[in-house]
Amino acid sequence: MKKQFMPFITFITALLFIAAGCSQSPQAKETPPRMAAAAPAKKDGLPNVKILATGGTIAGAAPSKTSATEYTAGAIGVDALIQAVPEIKEVAHVSGEQVVNIGSQNMNNETLLKLAKRVNKLLKSDDTDGIVITHGTDTLEETAYFLNLTVKSDKPVVVAGSMRPSTAIGADGPSNLYNAVKTAAAPDAKGKGTLVVLNDRIASARYVTKTNTTAADTFKSEEMGYIGTIADDIYFNNIMTRKHTKDTDFKIDKLDKLPQVDIIYGYQNDGSYLFEAAVKSGAQGIIFAGPGNGSMSDAAQKGAVKSVKSGLAVVRSTRTGNGTVTPNREYEKDHLTASNSLNPQKARILLMLALTKTHDPKRIQTYFNEY
Ligand code: DGL
Repeated sequence: MKKQFMPFITFITALLFIAAGCSQSPQAKETPPRMAAAAPAKKDGLPNVKILATGGTIAGAAPSKTSATEYTAGAIGVDALIQAVPEIKEVAHVSGEQVVNIGSQNMNNETLLKLAKRVNKLLKSDDTDGIVITHGTDTLEETAYFLNLTVKSDKPVVVAGSMRPSTAIGADGPSNLYNAVKTAAAPDAKGKGTLVVLNDRIASARYVTKTNTTAADTFKSEEMGYIGTIADDIYFNNIMTRKHTKDTDFKIDKLDKLPQVDIIYGYQNDGSYLFEAAVKSGAQGIIFAGPGNGSMSDAAQKGAVKSVKSGLAVVRSTRTGNGTVTPNREYEKDHLTASNSLNPQKARILLMLALTKTHDPKRIQTYFNEY
């Protein structure tokens, strides 16, 4: 667990950035989106890319250049991020908005909805050709996948983060931000679903997951591979085959909250009590992160059946990190569905949206087979 320094560091960092002529806002918990300055007309043919900042390590700061794991996430603002990479202006007209400035472990349904609605509003305008979202890496894949399911446009939406804070030797944030803007500005990035750009790789939000606590190459799509790479130029070499963005069934414009869906881990000697606790706390769905192919112990299955009888949707996923959880009559008889190839944290995102449309296990299974 990365220790987080207190705001004192933030204050010092703020002074450093102000001294360097960067305007920035010290760590703010919740800031309304500042209206982005009107983007200049595209006289030079460069596209307009909006950068929506949410915090994370990419906006992190530490007291020493050698601190790579102990820092304050969300310590600097979007203007400082942009001004640290002036080369961005060679690939796009950029303007920034600070949606929130938090560690992504604190990202929640309310902020997720606010971010996705802001993305959709911006993309409706001809003034926006693409969007980059800077985000903490811990839950980046959940936000990226939520956008993959809710963005109503084929314009590029790219999520970027970093594994080292902005103050560290070898900070990876500036190059990740530059690559993300370059990808969002690339005509070939249109229609590919929400993308995740870190470490010179372009990944699909549907396939990518964080696989390492601290390594720069932590984001991997082990089974389906990356969909592109960045090596000065951008090379797309794969496509994501699931429904996404413009083809989505899910609407969020009238939604002001998402159903509570919890994740329960399966392990030796587990029981039914965590299912009972989820039901009692008001969950409408449960994702079971089971061993192997979503296997349930008798005790866990008893808890799952009781949850279904209480009106919840229960989806079997897997704690293995890879592979497809397949439907199984042993579980289908109890109306338990299978997460297909979605890991538990992404299965939760899809089930939340599915429950805004239906509680029918058969329709829910169709969504897991399609998205
Ligand atoms: N606090 C973690 C987060 O914001 C730091 C991890 C990171 O951004 O790399 O996700």
